[in-house]
Amino acid sequence: MTGNEMLIRYPGYDLLLPDIVRAENCHLFDAAGRRYVDLESGVWCTSLGHAHPAVLRAMAEQASRIAHTGFCYTSEVVAAAARELLARLGFDGGRCVFLCSGSEAVEHGVRTAQAVIGRPLLLTMADSYFGAYGSASRKHQDEWFCFDWAACEGGCGEGCAHWDAIPFDRIGGFLLEPGSSSGLVRFPPVKLVRDLAARIHADGGLVLVNEVTTGIGRTGRWFGFQHYGIAPDIVALGKGLGNGYPVSAAAYAPGVIERLGGAPVKYAQSHQNDPLGAAVAREVLRVIDAEGLVDRGVTVAELLLSGLDGIAARTGRIAAIRSRGLMVAVVLHDEAQTPFTIRVHRGLVERGYIVGRRPGVPVLRLDPALTIETADIAGFLAAFEAALADD
Ligand SMILES: Cc1ncc(COP(=O)(O)O)c(C=O)c1O
Repeated sequence: MTGNEMLIRYPGYDLLLPDIVRAENCHLFDAAGRRYVDLESGVWCTSLGHAHPAVLRAMAEQASRIAHTGFCYTSEVVAAAARELLARLGFDGGRCVFLCSGSEAVEHGVRTAQAVIGRPLLLTMADSYFGAYGSASRKHQDEWFCFDWAACEGGCGEGCAHWDAIPFDRIGGFLLEPGSSSGLVRFPPVKLVRDLAARIHADGGLVLVNEVTTGIGRTGRWFGFQHYGIAPDIVALGKGLGNGYPVSAAAYAPGVIERLGGAPVKYAQSHQNDPLGAAVAREVLRVIDAEGLVDRGVTVAELLLSGLDGIAARTGRIAAIRSRGLMVAVVLHDEAQTPFTIRVHRGLVERGYIVGRRPGVPVLRLDPALTIETADIAGFLAAFEAALADD
């Protein structure tokens, strides 16, 4: 048995590169010294690229001071990180907690919302993904009403059978995933989201937003909800916040804190508000601002999209391109078992380029770091066109 066979891995994904030994920005290097360009950012996490020097410095510096604290003592860096995060969310007077995964941040938000509103049912879009565990992963019908927005893409509201079927009188909150749709990069319509958020707020409910994939500059704004002009009460963040280090956060607007009225949020785990994770998050937020990376992401996305449009026109092999900022899905013309998509994916790896492929759908997903070099985008476009022509 090889070392890799001893590991339990998520099924459905081929382990194509078993021996990556180091990484720098979007470049991965294997043991033989071969270079690969990572346009997937690991699992969409390395928002500033692998081994960003400033993040490494902040990490080493904090680790050498104190990495972990207990329930009765903390460190100023955690409060400093909270201040930075809440300011960017416009949650002045709000609060947040640093956790270890996106799933956990969503779960914290859901539990808190349920404690505040006292109505057990939450509304969400049927195609959303919130994590590996917890209430939002199970979407049990006692707790979740899943709205299939596909039928209402053109507009929906009172009088539409789908809207009228929503049991608003029992619903206490709306959990929105603003644009990943389980990794397929589908964006719920702005009017529908605004109307749902307005209705939930009018009924005294809370709007929760899952920014685990869409936050931290990914979609061309700091947060994905900003494309919708809504004011969330609770925001869950993960992935890009830690640039590959497992730190996440659940953040609460001041109104939620008031409504909690001093009631405790009973959620304990050993690493909540650890200084090391907080130091990493604070540095990621600082670097994004200091280097203007949200705007840079928009510029790079334009380059990527215009290249992809050209490839679509020249090859006729692309069925659709969906994107917002540097969150991009390319849908290929393919058969049900997606053999062509699998071949293109492998063809890209052979040429030194890594993109996301979700098993079972003819979709390749691109979520490169906001720091990706434009030469890597150009190289990818050439490799992609060649891989499409392999067939
Ligand atoms: C939209 C979305 N929410 C939540 C999660 C869960 O985050 P994590 O895997 O860090 O627990 C993911 C993970 O892929 C995600 O894509």
